[in-house]
Amino acid sequence: MNLIIERLGHLGDGIAHGPDGPIYAPQMLPGEVVEGELQGDHLTGIRIVTPSPLRVKPPCVHARTCGGCMMQHAANGFVAEWKQGIVQGALQGQGITTLFRPIVTSPPNSRRRATLTARRTKGGSLLGFHARGSDVLVAVPGCHLLHPDLIATFPALEALVKAGGSRTVEMQMTVTRSLSGADVVVVGGKPADAMMQMDLARLTEAHGLARLTWNGEAVALRTMPMQRFGRALVAPPPGAFLQATAEGEQALLQAVAFAIGSARKVVDLFAGVGTFTLPLAERAEVLAVEGEAAMMAALDKGARGAEGLRRVTTQTRDLYRRPLEADEFKGFDAVVIDPPRAGAEAQMRVLAAARVPVIAAVSCNPATFARDARILIDGGYRLDWVQVVDQFRWSPHVELAARFSRSV
Ligand SMILES: C[S@@+](CC[C@H](N)C(=O)[O-])C[C@H]1O[C@@H](n2cnc3c(N)ncnc32)[C@H](O)[C@@H]1O
Repeated sequence: MNLIIERLGHLGDGIAHGPDGPIYAPQMLPGEVVEGELQGDHLTGIRIVTPSPLRVKPPCVHARTCGGCMMQHAANGFVAEWKQGIVQGALQGQGITTLFRPIVTSPPNSRRRATLTARRTKGGSLLGFHARGSDVLVAVPGCHLLHPDLIATFPALEALVKAGGSRTVEMQMTVTRSLSGADVVVVGGKPADAMMQMDLARLTEAHGLARLTWNGEAVALRTMPMQRFGRALVAPPPGAFLQATAEGEQALLQAVAFAIGSARKVVDLFAGVGTFTLPLAERAEVLAVEGEAAMMAALDKGARGAEGLRRVTTQTRDLYRRPLEADEFKGFDAVVIDPPRAGAEAQMRVLAAARVPVIAAVSCNPATFARDARILIDGGYRLDWVQVVDQFRWSPHVELAARFSRSV
């Protein structure tokens, strides 16, 4: 069956027009003529009859088998335009148009935090990512996505799998690069009795990992895994949110700082461990609000230990159940808001009426961002600009920063 790929779906699959509706063809590009066998609404055994001029040779040796990257077959410029198009489309769906600042894409080998899957095998261990749409694990020693410091932890992770992994249950191993070594969080390892805990602690020491958390328990701490945010050093709790690349974090921070300009009193909502709060506190007083008490404590300690910051106050609060109320925004001249994928509908409804002059919004979900943007615009805000910040290179994931303003 011969088909022409018309567009890409949100997961990066090519979509062709079939007699009974859309047909999905993974890793194809718009304009390509392809043939293959139809299985339900998916094309399999695909042969490209006419390739797109935007098709490139995937840079990674694992690209054919590994499911970690979905877009390595497409030229960088195409992926950038496609991602910006997803945001434009989501906004248009809400009747919104705006200016776009140039996209910033993180370089290859810059991911400083990743979750790998691992399993004990007869001969030792297998560590990597799942193959596309499959439970087969693919080892990725030549990965083009991960920071070299993360790849350098593979021998340590493999040793941990041998020490405490099961042959039947897969383990999730989240590794975060820190200033003082890797911070490793393992879920799905065998229960760690005293002997095993000693073994895991010995491996942490021997491989120079900073900290090991095993099935939710802190089993080894060689040294605190520190992160720097501006002038502050923070020790995030295990598994705490961190932007995926240092370059992406800087791009988001620059966009947020540009958006709020000379604001002197700022609220940072969904503040995490202080990605925005701490650098912004070099020139503004900041109230940081976040749902996780341990993250707030880490931010607070980091702020108190840093020199020359303006006043930073913290509040642990569930912003879905108890959004900040309109009168709590009195006296603030800017809001930074960076919610999880679900967005922040309840908080945006209050913000829309609270009349803070500037809102810098960061989002990892264009659909909920567009919904929340509509709420702000209906409340009297303008959407001044949007900037796509692509920290998830070669994936269909999209992140952005945006500025809303109003005359008070
Ligand atoms: C996308 S992260 C952003 C964190 C921070 N702004 C950063 O850039 O590192 C979203 C944050 O929202 C927090 N969060 C999730 N649900 C929440 C809730 N209901 N109330 C308050 N914070 C919440 C998470 O713990 C996480 O730190």
